[in-house]
Amino acid sequence: MFETVEMALPDPILGLTEAFNADTNPGKVNLGVGVYKDANGKTPVLDCVKEAERRLIDSEQTKGYMPITGSPAFANDVQSMMFGVGHAAIESGRAATAHTPGGTGALRVVGDYLSRMCPDATLWMSNPTWANHGGIFQSAGVPTKPYSYFDVATNALDWDALRADLNKIPAGDVVLLHGCCHNPTGMDPTAQQWGTIADILAKRGLIPLLDFAYQGFAEGLEQDATGLRTVLGKVDEMFVCSSFSKNFGLYRERTGAATIVAKSADAAKAAMSHMKSCIRTNYSNPPAHGGEIVATILADDALTRQWHGELASMRDRINGMRQLFVDTLKAKGVSGDYSFITRQNGMFSFSGLTPEQVDTLRERHSIYIVRSGRINVAGMTEGNMDALCEAIAGVL
Ligand code: LMR
Repeated sequence: MFETVEMALPDPILGLTEAFNADTNPGKVNLGVGVYKDANGKTPVLDCVKEAERRLIDSEQTKGYMPITGSPAFANDVQSMMFGVGHAAIESGRAATAHTPGGTGALRVVGDYLSRMCPDATLWMSNPTWANHGGIFQSAGVPTKPYSYFDVATNALDWDALRADLNKIPAGDVVLLHGCCHNPTGMDPTAQQWGTIADILAKRGLIPLLDFAYQGFAEGLEQDATGLRTVLGKVDEMFVCSSFSKNFGLYRERTGAATIVAKSADAAKAAMSHMKSCIRTNYSNPPAHGGEIVATILADDALTRQWHGELASMRDRINGMRQLFVDTLKAKGVSGDYSFITRQNGMFSFSGLTPEQVDTLRERHSIYIVRSGRINVAGMTEGNMDALCEAIAGVL
């Protein structure tokens, strides 16, 4: 069975980490995978998470299975973070949430739901989008198509083309939008543009699917929910896929959620009953630990305040690195205006480096960047900035 099998292509993002781990150069730098690193280049466990884990170890009574949709306390926290505490969609029961293994698990669950319940729907993805989006929905059997999003010439949203494309999508199709910190470009619509996007979705009867993986990494927890809440205010039905990998630093705990917003509480319940069946035939029920950490933190005012502080320091460090990156490129003699990098949100910078330049950086300097030119700014430190910018100046 296996003798004739050839190697699959490595994953464009996690495959880079495998290559990075195998690299023996002590000066290697991983700017590939979207993982936060502190000023020492380490991915820390947040102090609030450590404290929540201590409490959980002391209080845990069972390792029995979780419900298929995870714990109701976690689901309630997810909805309050996304929509705002006490939002009408929560109070009316129109929203139903399942705890999933990470944001990737949430996207796959929604993909399975679409393939089972809406087999004629196409999923429209921004061009470009996260390198795993296409694979997730294709694996679930959901056809995908691109819509215009980014203009490489101006390093900005291609607003006219984006609107024109959305205005051509047939009713009943699903539009995948990044709630904030667009991955890979870091370019988000303005609040006003979100309003226009929401109007088009509502007018054309399109179903939004918000991928919400970076809440708190652009401007703040509330500000980053502007787009999602604007869309929610204009449409009757939507999906949201959340991830807590980044904002709680829970990467390996696989902590995410899939949320359905329906027109009525009964419709939400019925739709979630089918989503539960998709989950049961996939991973049965979610891993408990990450969701319990989130629920423990959010149930305690002091831990919540501590989390807000730790989240703000991650955000501030990344923004500081953006500015230092732009300044150091200039100091190393790179011509051209790179100030657009400071206008990008979240972990990533869409640098404009070509795949060939990215390959050279890896071969000559052990600097690992996704071949699209996406750089994880959160992997930059004051210690690696000089060497990094010198190498980039060299390939440019
Ligand atoms: C990324 O885009 O690098 C992150 O979302 C991690 C991943 O799973 O790809």
